[in-house]
Amino acid sequence: MRALVRETHLRPGAMIYPLFICPGESVRKEISSMPGCFNLSIDEAVKEAEQCAALGLGGLLLFGLPAEKDEQGTGAWADDGIVQSALRELKKNRKLDSLVMMADVCLCEYTSHGHCGVVVRDGNHYEVANDASVALLAKTAASLAAAGADVIAPSDMMDGRVASIRAALDAGGHEQVPVLSYASKFASAFYGPFREAADSAPQFGDRRSYQMDGGNLREAMREIELDLAEGADMVLMKPAMPYLDVIRAARERFDVPMGAYQVSGEFSMLHAAFQRGWLEPERAMMESLISIRRAGADFIVTYFAKDAAKVLA
Ligand code: PBG
Repeated sequence: MRALVRETHLRPGAMIYPLFICPGESVRKEISSMPGCFNLSIDEAVKEAEQCAALGLGGLLLFGLPAEKDEQGTGAWADDGIVQSALRELKKNRKLDSLVMMADVCLCEYTSHGHCGVVVRDGNHYEVANDASVALLAKTAASLAAAGADVIAPSDMMDGRVASIRAALDAGGHEQVPVLSYASKFASAFYGPFREAADSAPQFGDRRSYQMDGGNLREAMREIELDLAEGADMVLMKPAMPYLDVIRAARERFDVPMGAYQVSGEFSMLHAAFQRGWLEPERAMMESLISIRRAGADFIVTYFAKDAAKVLA
């Protein structure tokens, strides 16, 4: 009877699984703080993707670990960049047709300093230059779309990037490729494990000049409104569990497709408790996911996607 009257549901097709693509062949390196998640070379990523498709997941979100980083992050928009190459391989495979291939757009995995944009230094002072960064992000988006990305997902948080990315996509003949903007993204301690996974920790300073203050809900609404006005087709909110109220508020205010990202730290903290026997893994995982759906997210980007799909099956 409980099943009969359940109000909120989780389904594999509404979950997106992040993949971290690295150079090499047959590489499957576990991320120490994220049990069951790996840095995968392209051949291994294809196998992982086939599993995800067989489980009925909605799609993948691709991140890249380039062989080399530099001050500008040129690897981000290289035609033979790590994610571009992975996309070409993944899009060739007919078994993966059911997966929406989303490409994260940011420079932090590609810059030697680990910031999400162009760093301008002046003595001891540094600044992440907004407009210079936007131009590079737009170039990156176009290059990922050319490589076959179905969705472009900018996570950098520079102002005005959605409009520039939209224009670059259109100019490149990718007017059919939608933008999923990380519109509401807080400067969060919960990204810690990701920075190990993507090797993208800032070498100095922090991301507070471009990511939001955790105390601000109205600012999140403003960020979403701006991104939609600039042409975002869908918005992503992150982190999820510490910001469920933000997801709910956005759901009530905006009639657009919305996703939420259950980030690395949310996954790692649950796993840490599982390892100690302090929480029941399956129940806690499913409860954490349903809470995000109940808050109002249409889909969830989550490192639990495969495990949850197995439970649902
Ligand atoms: C890149 C980016 C980050 C995440 C997604 N895209 C890290 C950050 O902003 O520092 C975090 C995802 C996670 O923690 O799982 N800017």
